[in-house]
Amino acid sequence: MEYKGKVILAYSGGLDTSVAIKWLSDKGYDVVTLTADVGQILDTEEVKEKALKVGAVNAYVMDLRQEFVETMVWPALKANALYQGKYPLNSALSRPIIAKYLVWVAGMEGAVAVAHGCTGKGQDQVRIEVCSNALDPELKVIAPVREWHFSRDAEIAYAKENGIPVPVTAESPYSIDGNLWGRSIECGPLEDPWTEPPSDAFALTVDPWEAPDGQEYIEITFKKGIPVAINSTVMDGVTLIAELNRIAGAHGVGRIDMIEDRLVGFKSREVYECPATVCLLQAHQALESMTLTKDVIAAKADLSLKYAELTYTGFWFSPLKKALDAFFDSIQENVSGTVRVRLFKGASVVVGIKAEKSLYVESMATYSEGDAFDHEAAAGFIKIWGLPVKLWRQVHPEVETKVPELKVVGGAK
Ligand code: ARG
Repeated sequence: MEYKGKVILAYSGGLDTSVAIKWLSDKGYDVVTLTADVGQILDTEEVKEKALKVGAVNAYVMDLRQEFVETMVWPALKANALYQGKYPLNSALSRPIIAKYLVWVAGMEGAVAVAHGCTGKGQDQVRIEVCSNALDPELKVIAPVREWHFSRDAEIAYAKENGIPVPVTAESPYSIDGNLWGRSIECGPLEDPWTEPPSDAFALTVDPWEAPDGQEYIEITFKKGIPVAINSTVMDGVTLIAELNRIAGAHGVGRIDMIEDRLVGFKSREVYECPATVCLLQAHQALESMTLTKDVIAAKADLSLKYAELTYTGFWFSPLKKALDAFFDSIQENVSGTVRVRLFKGASVVVGIKAEKSLYVESMATYSEGDAFDHEAAAGFIKIWGLPVKLWRQVHPEVETKVPELKVVGGAK
């Protein structure tokens, strides 16, 4: 077997990527694994040991949680990025950082390629490969699962032959991907869109039906668009998201169930649970409604769609994404304040907002004592505002305006 050099494999510790270690070794590569901790449930020692046992020549486990939050999650929150209005991109956001560190370790180890365990049907393959190419165009990307054409049984047989541990417990029917920003659940019974997601699909949220009968209020404080405290306790980003996942998850907040249009052409039934994410997006948007001007809010809504699209389709390391970040950073300058959120049986509702630089001026809005709005000015404003349609009617008096048969309910003689 001809020696081909080193390859850096993104390693989850699961069956596919474990088999990939052996498969790549058989092809003549020295395999170095990289396991990225982005806040999924992970036993770092176990995963490292397993990689080496299966045949990796070196195994990295990296705690990337803080960088993930600061460079991927917070920018997405500032953008209020939601794909198709529902998916907060939790899985999509983790792929750029995995690609970034695959490329980085490849440089350190002098590797000729990077590899991942994605199938040929998903979009994670697209994201990892497009991001890797964007960072190092010369580096080869190998996708063993896409290439090996094993059936499930053949894969298990190959694993057994090669001493690769095969899970003994009944396998979960779901395909799961998790990190701090949320958990994605696919496959199994969810493939039938008429089937309600079974309770065993969820791990971060309780069924709203079983959530406490009492409501809970929380206060989230933001500085320049970034959440910094819960109930006045200042926390770093990783702790804050984990804490909010716990609090909101206990009230059943954050379940998302949707039919999603994949980049690879077909529709897919996707279920997510993102308790912290849902609360933070709501609270952030509420604070923006108080601190941004109407035209900025409108422009932002358009750019937010574009941002979600770029994230979803793997264009994280692109000049447009970078330019959009600059726009969002600029408008977040005054998005500082506190939002009060009520959690109750699956729902999170914003019930109070206060901002350091609030554009909401009570003396303008009030209908009570202390009204500072210039009522007289309204008459002149309306005269000019409505002038285009008034002129139009004067020129077109003949155009009929149909009135339905009058239903007089009282008062008419
Ligand atoms: N539909 C989501 C996305 O494309 C979830 C992907 C989950 N990934 C996984 N390997 N299970 O971003």
